[in-house]
Amino acid sequence: MTAPTRAVTIRVRRQQAPGARPHHSDYQVPATPHTTVLDALRWVKEHCDPTLTFRWSCASGVCGACGVMADGTPVLACQQPLGRAALGSVSIDPLADMPVERDLVVDLDPFHDSILQVTPWLVPSDDAPQGEGRHVQSPAQLAVYEEFASCIDCLLCQAACPQVGEDSDFLGPAAVAAAIRFEADSRDDGSDLRRSVLDSEAGYQSCVFDGSCSAVCPQGVDPAGALQRAALDLRDEL
Ligand code: SF4
Ligand code: FES
Repeated sequence: MTAPTRAVTIRVRRQQAPGARPHHSDYQVPATPHTTVLDALRWVKEHCDPTLTFRWSCASGVCGACGVMADGTPVLACQQPLGRAALGSVSIDPLADMPVERDLVVDLDPFHDSILQVTPWLVPSDDAPQGEGRHVQSPAQLAVYEEFASCIDCLLCQAACPQVGEDSDFLGPAAVAAAIRFEADSRDDGSDLRRSVLDSEAGYQSCVFDGSCSAVCPQGVDPAGALQRAALDLRDEL
């Protein structure tokens, strides 16, 4: 049996260009219980307003491109049902605390600048240079960092974090989770490059440990756990 369709109003924040004055546009979209936020945006683009601009690619929760705020909560648009359909209205905004390029598309350059500060790649030790010999890793060693390697850079955690918008020095939970992914890798020898960043206002010192980042992560990465781990590891070394 086909699911019943009803009209749902989505209120989308529009902004023509960086720094332009934002406004909101309302659209009525047909929705079933299975309609996602991305479905609704695509319907609007196809039937109402081809200028509506948003980012997406896989529509499967894999690429991390489609993050938006739905009724104030960071979500993957392709995975989020139009949850308030019963109330008849859903607000859709760009991810919080990120500069807007246009409509729902945010500028990722500030995040890329942040994550580069934590050397987010494997730094081989001098006695095991890349390309020479085998870099064997046991399943147990993989398990130590595997959770953090699941990050899809969707930035929902950055948008949920109460500190990212308050403290411009703080790199944010996604960048710290990326650092811990490599810190915990048995093949990595790059701690000296990351330690001064993690043990600073840019790292765990700015975290208020409220856990909102982990609550919204679609991958179960637990960036709050990464921050706690950074704090504990670095304090242990003092
Ligand atoms: S830690 Fe989770 S919420 Fe944050 S960017 Fe990675 S996948 Fe997204
Ligand atoms: S479009 Fe790829 S995660 Fe949503």
